[in-house]
Amino acid sequence: MRDMHCHILPGVDDGAADLEESLAMVEAARGAGVDEVVCTPHCRDPYFDWDAMWAAYNLLCDHVSDMPIRMGFEVNHTKLMELGYEWIDHLAFADTDEFLLELDTRCHAHDFEQYKRTIFEIQGHGFQVIIAHPERYHAIQRDISLAYDLVDMGCVLQASTDFVAGGRFGDELKPAKRMLKEGLYTHFASDAHRVGHYDLFTRACQKFGKYL
Ligand SMILES: [Fe+2]
Repeated sequence: MRDMHCHILPGVDDGAADLEESLAMVEAARGAGVDEVVCTPHCRDPYFDWDAMWAAYNLLCDHVSDMPIRMGFEVNHTKLMELGYEWIDHLAFADTDEFLLELDTRCHAHDFEQYKRTIFEIQGHGFQVIIAHPERYHAIQRDISLAYDLVDMGCVLQASTDFVAGGRFGDELKPAKRMLKEGLYTHFASDAHRVGHYDLFTRACQKFGKYL
């Protein structure tokens, strides 16, 4: 199974602090049944640093020989607006047609008009848009029809498996369960920031994997 969203690169965001922790996370991923990792450091303030993130990716690759590791980014919508659409091609998963987009946690329904324009733009560049952890977004927690709109636009939805323990902000379990049961998700990803998050990945796959 591929883990398409994790903060496993050493020392570039709020994930793995150093190479030692990165390598421990790779082992934990393997133990959880992961056979391919996409590294998705935060493309948002205060972390985004293109050169440092690629350097961290190359460092990790130098130390891992038996797990395919691909470079990518978790692209925050606000940051993409700041960088400009010309960055789209550089922020997709390397050598794929996939693009991981993070919306703003405290979003409102009216923000989705701009989100949809951005999604059309990314799709126009030839990418499949993966929406990171919709269960975290306040507007979707209030109105699940917004998640249906994203799927209708051709997006795929990715749950971050810490939802099984309530989620990063504590309110994600209920909306995640509802979206799972309504068949809105396509992917689970660890969104791992440390080793222990792979235990939650395993739990979520065992308990809720049947809904994907
Ligand atoms: Fe993430």
